[in-house]
Amino acid sequence: MTATLATANVTPTWVQLVELVAAVCFILALKGLSSPKTARNGVLIGSVGALIAVVVTFFAGYEMNNLLWILLAMVVGIAIGWPAARKVKMTAMPQLVALFNGAGGGAAALVALVEYQAVGAEDTLVLTFTVLTVLIGSVAFSGSIVTFLKLQEIMTTRPVVIPAGRIVTIAVAVAAAVLAVALIISPTSLLLIILALVSLVLGVLLVLPVGGADVPIVISLLNAFTGLAVAASGYVLGNVLLLVAGTLVGASGTLLTQEMAKAMGRPLTNTLFGAFKASTALAAGGDADRPVRSSSADDVAIMLAYAQKVIIVPGYGLAVAQAQHTIRELVDLLNERGIEVAYAIHPVAGRMPGHMNVLLAEANVPYDQLKEMEEINPEFSSTDVVLVVGANDVVNPAAKSDPSAPIYGMPILDVSDAAQVVFLKRSMRPGFAGITNELLYDPKTTLLFGDAKDSLTKVVGAVKGL
Ligand code: TAP
Repeated sequence: MTATLATANVTPTWVQLVELVAAVCFILALKGLSSPKTARNGVLIGSVGALIAVVVTFFAGYEMNNLLWILLAMVVGIAIGWPAARKVKMTAMPQLVALFNGAGGGAAALVALVEYQAVGAEDTLVLTFTVLTVLIGSVAFSGSIVTFLKLQEIMTTRPVVIPAGRIVTIAVAVAAAVLAVALIISPTSLLLIILALVSLVLGVLLVLPVGGADVPIVISLLNAFTGLAVAASGYVLGNVLLLVAGTLVGASGTLLTQEMAKAMGRPLTNTLFGAFKASTALAAGGDADRPVRSSSADDVAIMLAYAQKVIIVPGYGLAVAQAQHTIRELVDLLNERGIEVAYAIHPVAGRMPGHMNVLLAEANVPYDQLKEMEEINPEFSSTDVVLVVGANDVVNPAAKSDPSAPIYGMPILDVSDAAQVVFLKRSMRPGFAGITNELLYDPKTTLLFGDAKDSLTKVVGAVKGL
């Protein structure tokens, strides 16, 4: 079915050139995905690259056994993947990514296992990469399945802490490492299968203690694992394209994981080995005794309609309320009145990377209205009204002022620099980090309680009547 390194040397030049085209497509795809404006093209270019890679494999002259099984597997994969990707709701995207990622890691591990059974390993280096593919691919597979189950709420989304969990996890990790070394010294098929099973257990143990909202970071980490497994399998099979694609996924997954952890102001170890410590946490009902200024939709409409400059801060609640179309309608109305409006996008607003960009793109919000945190922060001091729609942690000043806060160190949107701040939320409940937001009690803050979509619909109606 595959070519070994030795046969790779005789891969026809035209095949190498076509594979190079596919590799360039993958690189251009990543470039495209780096901005919302070009992301759609990026996905298309990446898909074309993948199609080229698959098609060329059939005509490259590699020895292909089990052609019928291969074609059947492709039909089954398309029959499941195509409708799943088309039908998935935007809020369910992380679990779909988890499933696809698991499939990638699992496939890499299986390919390495089968390749070893079929032809063995020609030298220690190939053997080492075979062992690594099985280990990392199996961890990525089982870990991704657990992340899927958590995000789909098939199992609890809370951290699952088993008795002596940390020690058990370390013991299983050590067992996997010992097995890997033993295999490299004296390989047997049975030992390789045992390594796969131990690695599957390790993947489960690594993800179980991660809390629901931290899971997106773990998905990104497992994505990097899958990339590494695929790259290692590329070495085993002597397939340069797998090496390139796997390395790109591994590198971009690692960078994304680092960026997310940095944007949340938390070390990765904290995400993996401990949920948020709710040191300044509130009970679900909030700090009931402290007064806040709440207002009506009509008052908020007047504030907005007579401002010169408004900034919208979208957050997780915008996604929950599915209010992206209504916020766009409001912004269009304000623009018609000659008011300058921009959206401030925090890198970890919502629950997955790019969540707000995707949400607002759904409502066809023009890209030039979306401003990254670094770009918009100096703008707040010259802004009349900031409308915070279902966001909380990403504007919480405790990230700067309270060293005991779990979000301390996370860069935030400097909303408190503006003249007035309006929060749209349903209650005084805290955000994901579970801590008080002092800005809610600030004299310049007004709260409009209710579901964001309902509140915005009322505000839109009131602005139209002015
Ligand atoms: P949060 O701090 O979680 O705040 C969300 C707010 O939305 C809450 O105040 C909630 O208050 C409100 N809300 C929920 N449903 C609503 C609805 N239907 N209508 C109106 N308001 C609603 O969100 P954020 O500011 O976007 O911050 C994101 C958090 O997630 C950060 O702590 C971040 O570290 C974490 N996180 C992010 C990511 C990525 S990659 N984005 C990954 C993992 C974790 P009520 O309940 O009172 O309505």
